[in-house]
Amino acid sequence: MKLWGGRFEGGPSEVFERFSGSLHFDRRLLDVDCRGSQAYARALERVGILTATECAALVKAFDEIRAAARQPGFFDGATDEDVHTLVIRKLKERTGELADKIHTGRSRNEQVSLDVRLWLREEIDSILERLTRVMSALLTMARKYPHAVVPGYTHTRRAQPVLWPHYLLAHFEMFARDHESLANARRRANVMPLGSGALAGSGFPFDREAIARELGFDGVTRNSMDVSADRDFALDFLYAASVSMLHLSRLAEDWILYSSEEFGWLELGDGVTSGSSLMPQKKNPDSLELIRGKTGRVFGAFNSLFVTLKGLPMTYNRDMQEDKEPLFDAADQLSASLEMMEAVIESTRLHPDKPARDAEESWTVATDLAEALARAGTPFHQAHQLVGRLVLESVKQGKKPADWTPAQLTAFAPEFTAGIARLLHPSEGMKTREIPGGTGPAAVACALEEAEARLKQWTR
Ligand code: ARG
Repeated sequence: MKLWGGRFEGGPSEVFERFSGSLHFDRRLLDVDCRGSQAYARALERVGILTATECAALVKAFDEIRAAARQPGFFDGATDEDVHTLVIRKLKERTGELADKIHTGRSRNEQVSLDVRLWLREEIDSILERLTRVMSALLTMARKYPHAVVPGYTHTRRAQPVLWPHYLLAHFEMFARDHESLANARRRANVMPLGSGALAGSGFPFDREAIARELGFDGVTRNSMDVSADRDFALDFLYAASVSMLHLSRLAEDWILYSSEEFGWLELGDGVTSGSSLMPQKKNPDSLELIRGKTGRVFGAFNSLFVTLKGLPMTYNRDMQEDKEPLFDAADQLSASLEMMEAVIESTRLHPDKPARDAEESWTVATDLAEALARAGTPFHQAHQLVGRLVLESVKQGKKPADWTPAQLTAFAPEFTAGIARLLHPSEGMKTREIPGGTGPAAVACALEEAEARLKQWTR
């Protein structure tokens, strides 16, 4: 069956049908397609195209199709051009000629926009839920190690000591922004396009607001040509999904390193790692590597649709059918990666002694010392020089910060008073960073509570 054909003398060639058919991927829209069509049937009844009995028969048939589609084998042997065509064929099998009325004044151009919006809205809801679970796992881990000190890095060089919860909260903030971006993409998608027709607006006086209300949309689209031409809402999602994957990938990269023998900070659970077919001792972080790997794939999805839309003339062009595969794939990969990341975080243990020792042994306290000198009156540039010389001398002698006694320090330079010598311990200097957003223990405890409160609002 076709939704067109009167104007043609010959049918489509086999190669064209094979080339242009989208059922093998857009079948995923069947459920939302039926729900959208039920709302459309009610709209047709309100404008007098369908009687109440006819409308009820169609609505019931759509419910039957939805149920049938959940059974295995439903799509076997189907050769329809796309999911919209298949649904109407199934409707015809159930309601006969009455089915010929459902597409009155409707175009697949608005229908596909509606379907993708409905599908995306639900997909984003489930992704947001998985994202909040990842964020919650980070906070749980932060609560487990409130005092753990680790070196923070710049340029992959030990820089300044930070609390492990402070580090985890940095990732939390990135995911919190992702939450906002994804919620914004949902808002962009949640606008009702029906009534737009193919491009010029429907020839039937639908109450579009009523359709929007029935389908749970925030409002209606404002321009029929825009509806047929627009996939910005899909791009918004793909961008938000890409940045979310970017954040997952950076966390993955960190933990691949931190769980290596070279770092020895983290122990990943057996359940999220795998062994080697040859080397018996290996415990590989494949779960995290795959998250990092899938990130490129999601960037590709964004890029794919971005480039597809470039230069398309107003309004609908069949190129736009190429929106679905990248969109579906990006949502699947993000969703799976979030689920995986939650399991990784839950299974991971920190060995706090190792990073604490790493922070103590290197001169991560150097900035604390220089700032303390500056607070005591030494101009900062001179303080920086002085501590720099202390570090150089220590490196030459193979001395760690803890090897210096207060007396030796004062002998090195009188500016180093006994009070300043205390700061040779990473956990001491940290206490000078009680600024909002800093790694001071009280500031971090506060930030942790604030983060928990924010997350609670999102999980209500
Ligand atoms: N399968 C098509 C798509 O996804 C549906 C819209 C078809 N519209 C058309 N004018 N051929 O874009």
